[in-house]
Amino acid sequence: MGGSVRGHPVLPRRAPAPALIDRPGAIEAAGRLGGPMDPSEMLRTLETERARGRELFAAAASLEELEAANVTVLGRKSPLGAVQRALGALAEDQRRQLGKAVNDVRGELTDVQERRREALTADAESALLAADAVDMSLPGRRPPIGSLHPLTLVEDEIVGLFLRLGYRVAEGPEIEDDWHNFQALNIPEDHPARTMKDSLYVSIPGHPELLLRTETSAVQIRTMQSQPPPVYIVAPGRVYRRETSDPTHLAVFHQVEALVVDEGITFADLKGTLEAMAQGLFGEDRKIRFTPSYFPFVEPGAQIGVTCFRCGGVGCQLCGSGWIELLGAGMVHPKVLENCGYDSERYTGFAFGLGIERVAILRYEIPDIRLLIEGDVRFLERFGVA
Ligand code: DAH
Repeated sequence: MGGSVRGHPVLPRRAPAPALIDRPGAIEAAGRLGGPMDPSEMLRTLETERARGRELFAAAASLEELEAANVTVLGRKSPLGAVQRALGALAEDQRRQLGKAVNDVRGELTDVQERRREALTADAESALLAADAVDMSLPGRRPPIGSLHPLTLVEDEIVGLFLRLGYRVAEGPEIEDDWHNFQALNIPEDHPARTMKDSLYVSIPGHPELLLRTETSAVQIRTMQSQPPPVYIVAPGRVYRRETSDPTHLAVFHQVEALVVDEGITFADLKGTLEAMAQGLFGEDRKIRFTPSYFPFVEPGAQIGVTCFRCGGVGCQLCGSGWIELLGAGMVHPKVLENCGYDSERYTGFAFGLGIERVAILRYEIPDIRLLIEGDVRFLERFGVA
C-alpha cells in the first residue's frame, strides 16, 4: 500500500504509542494541519487522534508520562487543536457538526485519560503503602534489660532449695567480733585460722578485736543466741580473708551456711540433706561422699565431694578423679551448743558451709574465679535472662 490517500500522509492507526510522539514528520504533519482543512480531512484526523489518544493514554506508565500524553493529544499544538482551530473557517452547519465531533473525541479522550490517571494514582498509592508497610510479625526491639549476676543466680538457687525444705534465711554482720567469729565456734586462741595471715582486722577505737568475718559460720552463733531450738536456717553472705587473688581464690567471696539444731538430729539427716542439695544443684544422678576432715566447730567433721556433673564420676579434665570437693560439714560440736546456751544433752545438730563462687565456677565451667567480680559485660551477657 502506498504512503498517501488523496495526497495526504496516512497517520498510522495502530502505531506503538509512545514512539508515535517522536515519529519523524509528526510535528510537521500537525503543523500542516494547523492550516485550512476540509471537513473530511478533519473527520479523518479526529478518528486517528481518537485511536492515537487511547493508545497513548493506555501506554502511559506514570503520571508524568500521562501528562506528556495529555499535551501531545489534547494540547494546543495537537492535531486535535489544529482541527479545532480549523472549525472557524467552516460554514455554520458544518462547523456545528464537526464541532460536536471534536467535542465528542475530546470528551472521550478526557475520560480515558481520567480513568488512566485514577489507575496510576491508585498504583502509586499502593506502591507507597507497600514501601511503607510495617511487618507486624517481626520481633520488636527489646530494650536491653540487665540480668541477675551468676553469683546471685547460684545463691538464689541454693537458698530456694532450702526454703522449700522449710528452712528460713538468717543473716549476720560482715564486721564481727572475735567471740562470734572464733571463740564461740570453738576456734582457740592459737588456731591458725585466726592469725593475721588470713584474717582482716578492723581498727575502730573502743571496739577492739573486730574483724571482717572469715566465714558465715559466725551466723550460727548469732542465730542460736537469738532464739531457742529448733533451728533450721540458711545464711548466705559475704566473707573476707587476707588472700591474694588468683584463678581459684578471692579475698572477698560468698558462702551459704546451714544450721539445723533439734532433738534427735543425726549424721543420717546431714547425709540426706546434702544429697538432696547436691542433686538439686547438679542433677538427679549425683552421688556424694564424705571424707573425714577437721573443723573446730563440728565433731565429727567432713569434707563432702559430689560425683562430677560433667563426666558422671569416671574422671575428666574438670574433676580429675571423678569427684568434686564441694563443702565442709559436720555435727555441731557440743561446746558450740553450750556456748550459745543450748542443752547439748538434749539437742544435736548439723552444719555445713559452701562457697557460692565455687559452685558457680563448677556449674558454669568458668575458667577464672576473678571473672565473677570484674563486671565485664561480655562475660555477664552469658547469664542474660532477656
Ligand atoms: N566455715 C568453713 C569454711 O569457711 C566451712 C564449714 C565447714 C562450715 C564445716 C560449716 C561446717 O558449717 O560444719 O571453710
